[in-house]
This record gives sequence, C-alpha cells and structure tokens, in this order.
Amino acid sequence: MEKSIKLMKVWKEYIPGNPVLKGISLEVKRGEFVSIRGRSGAGKSTLLAIIGLLEKPSSGTVIIFGKDASNISDEEASSIRLRKIGFIFQSFNLIESLNVLENVELPMALAGIDSKTRRRRAMELLAKFNMDRLAWRMPWQLSVGERQRVAVVRALANNPELILADEPTSSLDEENSEIVLDLLQQINKDKLTTIVLTSTNLEERLPTHRDYLLRNGRLIRIK
Ligand SMILES: Nc1ncnc2c1ncn2[C@@H]1O[C@H](COP(=O)(O)OP(=O)(O)OP(=O)(O)O)[C@@H](O)[C@H]1O
Ligand SMILES: [Mg+2]
Repeated sequence: MEKSIKLMKVWKEYIPGNPVLKGISLEVKRGEFVSIRGRSGAGKSTLLAIIGLLEKPSSGTVIIFGKDASNISDEEASSIRLRKIGFIFQSFNLIESLNVLENVELPMALAGIDSKTRRRRAMELLAKFNMDRLAWRMPWQLSVGERQRVAVVRALANNPELILADEPTSSLDEENSEIVLDLLQQINKDKLTTIVLTSTNLEERLPTHRDYLLRNGRLIRIK
C-alpha cells in the first residue's frame, strides 16, 4: 500500500545539544489511523509539525506523499498543507470573528474555491455530520465539544489525504472525546483518510490501528 508518511532517523533540537526527538523512524500507510501518546513536553506537537511540513528536522529524512521534504520549497509546502493535510489543534482552533460556516469555508477560500461552491460544500460537510444547525453560530456560542467537532469538519474542507490531530480530546470530557473520536474513525473509514493523532492520556481507548509512546525522544510501539 501507498505510504503517506515515512520518517527515517529524524532528530530535532530547538536548542543545540538538547534534542527533543532522537532518531524517530515511523511509517504510516494510506488509510491508517495511528496515535502518538506521550506526556506534556515529550515532543508530540514537534513531531506533528515535522510531518505537517511546519518544522524542519535537524537531521534525518521526511517523506510525505512520496516526496522528500528536504526537496519541497516553502511555497509547495504551504500548498501541500492547504490541499492535502487537515490540521486539528487542541485549542484556539476556530477564528472567533467568523461563524461556523465561514470557519469551515476558510481553507477552501484560501485554496481559491469560489464562494458559491465553498458555501455549498461547507454546508454539505456540516450536514453530513449533523452539525448544520450550528452553521450560523459564532464560536463563542458553541460548547467546547461542539467547537472541537467543527474543527474536525473544517479539517476536512479541502478533502485532505492526511489529518494531523494534536490532542483533539485533551480539553473534552469523556462523552465529547468519544464523539470526536467516533467522528475521526468514521472519516478514516469512509475515505481512507490517514490520521495521526496525539494524546497525553496514556490510558485513553482510541479507534486506532497502531499506538506509539513518545518518551525520551524515542518512539515505542504500544499497540
Ligand atoms: N519553537 C520552540 N523553540 C524552543 N523549544 C521548543 C519549541 N517548541 C517546542 N519546544 C520544546 O520542545 C519540547 C517538546 O515540545 P512539544 O510542544 O513538541 O511537546 P508536546 O509533547 O506537544 O507537549 P504538550 O503535550 O504539552 O503539548 C518542550 O521541551 C518544548 O519546550
Ligand atoms: Mg503539544
């Protein structure tokens, strides 16, 4: 099967002599759902940022969608991020001055899709996940769980091949965590969207194919 992501001996240090990642090797195939768990400060966001072409590794190789990241220009990287990768962040994920519909439309607008098409697609996406009733609400009128679900839907805006979800359940209670995880599982199954998700909760049951623990800069497979 096609590989979405391949990391080989990836090191990252922000401060010289103080590596956060120490030789990470990881392969994720198209359609896989993988988690990276680890305590706060373990380097989970750093790893996702490297996969998502937001950070460069200090050494090692990153291959994404079959391309060596070291040969990808900044311009191409932003295009890949916009069109092929859906990002979900732990908090501050919605633009406060835009309503739900406009938030979902935003990545499509950035990709140059015309306003009529993007409105229709955003509405369809919201309806598909039973959130069309939230379309005209502002972010401050949503519960934290609803916000995170909207963030998940927005990550789908440009029909990405890969979703990078950084602690999407950290700020949610058990019930809302389950809703968001079910949503991600549905997306993973429906469209064979590859998902890499992080969590600080080492016990949380996740609908993943494989789980890893990030500790002392290294990745240990735990499921
Ligand atoms: N831009 C940066 N400059 C310097 N150090 C950084 C930078 N980003 C992260 N770090 C450091 O790298 C380490 C790993 O940070 P990272 O954010 O990747 O951890 P994390 O596992 O995502 O933690 P959390 O669960 O709290 O989000 C931390 O010690 C952090 O202080
Ligand atoms: Mg983090």
